[in-house]
Amino acid sequence: METAKLTLRGKEYDLPVSEGTEGEVSIDIAALRSKSGAITMDPGYGNTGSCSSAITFIDGEQGILRYRGYAIEELAEKSTFIEVAYLLIYGQLPNTTELSSFKDTVTRHSLIHEDLRKMIEMYPSSAHPMGVLSAMISSLTAFYPAENYNSNVETNIARLIAKIQTISAFFYKRSVGQPRVYPRNDLSYTGNLLNMMFSVPSENYHVSAILEDALDKLLILHADHEQNCSTSTVRMVGSSHANIFATMSAGIDALWGPLHGGANQEVITMLEHIRDDGQDYKKYMELAKNKNSGFKLMGFGHRVYKNFDPRAKILKAAADRVLNTLGIQDPLLDIAQNLERIALEDSYFVERKLYPNVDFYSGIIYKAMGIPISMFTVMFAIGRLPGWIAQWKELTSESNLRIYRPRQVYTGENVRPYIPIEQR
Ligand code: COA
Repeated sequence: METAKLTLRGKEYDLPVSEGTEGEVSIDIAALRSKSGAITMDPGYGNTGSCSSAITFIDGEQGILRYRGYAIEELAEKSTFIEVAYLLIYGQLPNTTELSSFKDTVTRHSLIHEDLRKMIEMYPSSAHPMGVLSAMISSLTAFYPAENYNSNVETNIARLIAKIQTISAFFYKRSVGQPRVYPRNDLSYTGNLLNMMFSVPSENYHVSAILEDALDKLLILHADHEQNCSTSTVRMVGSSHANIFATMSAGIDALWGPLHGGANQEVITMLEHIRDDGQDYKKYMELAKNKNSGFKLMGFGHRVYKNFDPRAKILKAAADRVLNTLGIQDPLLDIAQNLERIALEDSYFVERKLYPNVDFYSGIIYKAMGIPISMFTVMFAIGRLPGWIAQWKELTSESNLRIYRPRQVYTGENVRPYIPIEQR
């Protein structure tokens, strides 16, 4: 067995080395503490492998993203979101029977219990939909049996994929003060979501094939991204054997943050701000480069991609196509393209390898579809759900699963006597 040698305080330790199927090398330090008393330190886990996984491969230097070995570019062009969900969760592309049975099951679970609907209607209409979504997904535990992490797994997976759309659309309708629209079994997955969000009783709403297709692509591009913040959260919570609904709810909370899934919302806010401020690109470039300004170029930079984000490339072309086909002229698209061009010519961004990420153009497409900014991260969550489920399934089927529990280096006070309050 190949090993790496570590010398620490005059003693040498042999650490096992392993290699993944794409040549990624790792040094196993799991036994280091018991042998040497030392832990490894990696704040933010930037260079720490927390698991082995056969689901998603990313090569950040070369801008490669593959689900189960299939290139994201090919899946975005040829597949559908439901097929990709099956691929991620079950490991292989489905045959015709498997796909239609999976679609059927997901479709049949799209209704939510009427008491859940009443719960959604109790939230203030101004509530952020991500908070409502997280709470409602966790609340599924109260309605659908999931006593243990491994009970009713297949049914609960279908329930989650189906009901996340219904919950999201019901709350969207509540937020705009319109009557809810119940799911329809004759529509596609994304067609159903668009119908629940945008049809109104007074109009004969037809789901646009362009929007259906564009949304399907967006969901495919968001479906998994290996061990990012929300997926690691899912694995962390899942490792305690929490049930599937509670675990997915935790993923939604992690995704909500502006440095993660919340960035798509921040991008549009930033672009609007730049538009209203006279499109002074130079000013915003300088602000982005000044660490004390508190301003970042949202939708730029990535922990893993240091060349380009392949999803951003697909979405840039898709944004152009969707806006053209719909005949929409959105100045924000021009501002985004100008900002990208200027940033990629600026040494600050070039040296730090900062490129547009998935969030830079996705918001412009959502906006063209009529999806409000506050719902952007909800769309991301709907897309990411199959990835979280696949990672959770992989984790919980490990025969030697250990609860996730990192270590720390303590930097606080040494032991000291308690001081009674009157002497402080
Ligand atoms: N605008 C301006 N500067 C940025 C930047 C941005 N969007 N993203 C990173 N940088 C700078 C950092 O200040 C740092 O500069 P330094 O080396 O001089 O200190 C350098 O680039 C490296 O960035 P760092 O924050 O260490 O990278 P990270 O891997 O910790 O963070 C992100 C990655 C995604 C959190 C970060 O790039 C970011 O906050 N981007 C904006 C939010 C966003 O779009 N998130 C969605 C991700 S899909």
